[in-house]
Amino acid sequence: MNKLIVSLLLTLGITGVAHAAGDAAAGKAKSAVCGACHGIDGNSPVPNFPKLAGQGERYLAKQMHDIKDGKRTVLEMTGLLANSSDQDIADLAAYFAGQKGSVGAADPKLVARGEKLFRGGDLSKGLPACTGCHAPDGTGNAAAGFPHLSGQYAQYIAKQLADFRKEDAGRANDGDAMTMRTIARKLSDEDIAALSSYIQGLH
Ligand code: HEC
Ligand code: HEC
Repeated sequence: MNKLIVSLLLTLGITGVAHAAGDAAAGKAKSAVCGACHGIDGNSPVPNFPKLAGQGERYLAKQMHDIKDGKRTVLEMTGLLANSSDQDIADLAAYFAGQKGSVGAADPKLVARGEKLFRGGDLSKGLPACTGCHAPDGTGNAAAGFPHLSGQYAQYIAKQLADFRKEDAGRANDGDAMTMRTIARKLSDEDIAALSSYIQGLH
């Protein structure tokens, strides 16, 4: 593991928050309202709505808490989680984490650049390899809360990377997301397009 990744990992810190254990069956019963946008089984029908199927439970719960608390702006979900308890969020996370995510295809013209950046980073810019945290097959590290990326829609991924890169990002929370903000600032528009397409076809 290179030095940059180690230092980024250290900045993530240990939060030590005790989380309620999720009940997937209870989560399924609570997920009807999510289906219209994210798909009943968490494989959303449109590329600007992220797939939740197979995503890590800890990451899913963190995002729902961030969205509920206004630390991450998702206009489409405004007020939706306002009355959700910690247990509701844990149950929903357990349900979607247990679903099987579908995979897309990469644009053949962008694969080489995307793969090079994903697997090797770019030493000249101090960009770490994405594999250090998101794993070589893009499945992430569920226990650490590093999200599963493989198979996710390129359009959604590109928007997230652009959001992380912006100064006044909608994902500007100063917790774990600072890692991705530091990384995204080193990405050009072309890098983002190549990485997003590569991730969509990764499995
Ligand atoms: C009206 C559409 C809509 C509904 C209904 C909806 N969402 Fe979302 N959700 C979105 C959009 C759009 C995003 C991504 C916004 C962005 O680009 O950052 C999102 C993002 C998320 C994320 C973050 C995913 C990631 O990979 O970071 C989670 C988790 C999530 N939604 C869970 C839920 C759950 C659980 C429900 C039901 C209780 C729900 N959503 C209902 C539209 C919706
Ligand atoms: C040091 C660890 C680390 C490295 C290296 C890393 N990431 Fe991340 N990434 C994270 C963490 C942690 C999050 C979750 C941030 C949050 O909670 O909002 C994340 C989130 C993301 C997301 C949002 C996923 C979603 O569903 O919304 C994308 C996209 C992403 N990373 C892409 C990349 C790419 C591309 C690279 C390589 C250029 C990379 N990451 C390198 C730790 C890392």
